[in-house]
Amino acid sequence: MPDSERKYADFGARQVPLGDKQALVDDVFRRVARRYDLMNDLMSFGLHRAWKDALVTAVNPSKNRPFALFDIAGGTGDVAMRVVAAGGAQTRATVCDINPDMLAVGRERAAARGFGDALTFAEANAEALPFADRSFDAATIAFGIRNVPRIETALAEAYRVLKIGGRFVCLEFSAVTVPGLDKIYDLYSFNVIPALVRAVVGDAESYRYLVESIRNFPKPQAFADMMRAAGFARVSHRLMSGGIVALHSGWRL
Ligand SMILES: C[S@@+](CC[C@H](N)C(=O)[O-])C[C@H]1O[C@@H](n2cnc3c(N)ncnc32)[C@H](O)[C@@H]1O
Repeated sequence: MPDSERKYADFGARQVPLGDKQALVDDVFRRVARRYDLMNDLMSFGLHRAWKDALVTAVNPSKNRPFALFDIAGGTGDVAMRVVAAGGAQTRATVCDINPDMLAVGRERAAARGFGDALTFAEANAEALPFADRSFDAATIAFGIRNVPRIETALAEAYRVLKIGGRFVCLEFSAVTVPGLDKIYDLYSFNVIPALVRAVVGDAESYRYLVESIRNFPKPQAFADMMRAAGFARVSHRLMSGGIVALHSGWRL
């Protein structure tokens, strides 16, 4: 169903009026911003680093020419920093996120790590990007798209801001495909993670949303169809870690 006709959105395990979802999501990330990077490491046993490395490899920033990355829902800037570190001296990244608390953590980290003007942080909604058409060589979104209420609109915006020949790469949780691993994964998600979160940060409620929201995200084939509908060509995806995560790719040609 197109975004314009939808009245409800998934918020974790429940359905909420479409117009209410963003405020609920913003509240989650406002509460977890300061502990977000630590929890990423703890909850994924550091695996999110390998998943993000695969994304950086797909982006393949130029070593010797200007390269402009746009990282959507970039939060604390982790992906953007990795792409800038992998690229050449002329690689620049713009991190956009709707949440000022996540961006504030990102700005502090970028300054502490000496990224200078290679990184820019912009408060913006993925559904209405304040950037000109055909501005960027690559657009990325890591673990962000499932939080956006109108996914088709966000995909259309990502397509719009990409240059012709630019690549869109999306990292998102997926459906476990390895027999046996699905049961362990469920047990881990719904029992171990809440206990871990309670022990480390004390805000299990916010992380319940993050775990539950994974289950409702479209399966890789369905998401690939959404990418094609937004205009992307040569759409493909690759499952990683037994299907826990999928790396989606499409081109603006
Ligand atoms: C799970 S975090 C991912 C952060 C980062 N990409 C990473 O991989 O570490 C999801 C991010 O999506 C952002 N977000 C949610 N809805 C958004 C929207 N409509 N537009 C832009 N960012 C949004 C949240 O504020 C949050 O920072």
